[in-house]
Amino acid sequence: MRIFLDTANIEQVRSAAKLGVISGVTTNPSLISKEGNADYESVIKTICTIVEGPISVEVLAEDVKGMIKDARKASKWAPNVVIKIPCTAAGLEATSVVSKEGIGVNMTLVFSPNQGLLAALAGAAYCSPFVGRLDDHGHDGMQVVKDIVDIYTHYKLSTQVIAASIRHPLHCVTAAKAGAHIATIPYNVLMQMISHPLTDIGISRFMNDWKKLSQK
Ligand code: E4P
Repeated sequence: MRIFLDTANIEQVRSAAKLGVISGVTTNPSLISKEGNADYESVIKTICTIVEGPISVEVLAEDVKGMIKDARKASKWAPNVVIKIPCTAAGLEATSVVSKEGIGVNMTLVFSPNQGLLAALAGAAYCSPFVGRLDDHGHDGMQVVKDIVDIYTHYKLSTQVIAASIRHPLHCVTAAKAGAHIATIPYNVLMQMISHPLTDIGISRFMNDWKKLSQK
């Protein structure tokens, strides 16, 4: 399973990219708004220079024409831009148009296996089921990831599943076990994935033992 960073914070992207474990970034209007920079284009262009892999930019229109216009415009910002389109009737129609033009689509706000199937049939390159938001509503978000992975595998559909709305490190483990191609995760979850108290204790023990030897 590959890991994308779910953020519009450029410093977080820079810091995570240095680790060599990130192969894409996902943004959305809420993440952009959190950074207080309304210049979506410049934020995305900067991120595209830091990470080579797919960088998801969300359309801001809700109608088909507007979504297609947004998609065509943002896809010119950088060669690695992928367009996030919500899973609505308008979103599916827009996806079927722009995907035929060679624009990569990440179908977002996916909450059911049926939406996942439709995303693939419309030509989306990626499908993002929102695990945490489903869990918040008392559903098993990861089961939706698993169901979509099973459907794509069964019918040999090439759309990749991005486990999104990830809230904690256990989500990453279960997403990987469910067969998600990618998990897009917030920076704090990436940091939590790295750290383990036994690693810190182990380093400290090795260093202390080494010092004892050099003091002999
Ligand atoms: C990523 O593509 C999604 O926009 C993001 O993971 C949503 O996460 P949230 O449910 O924490 O807002």
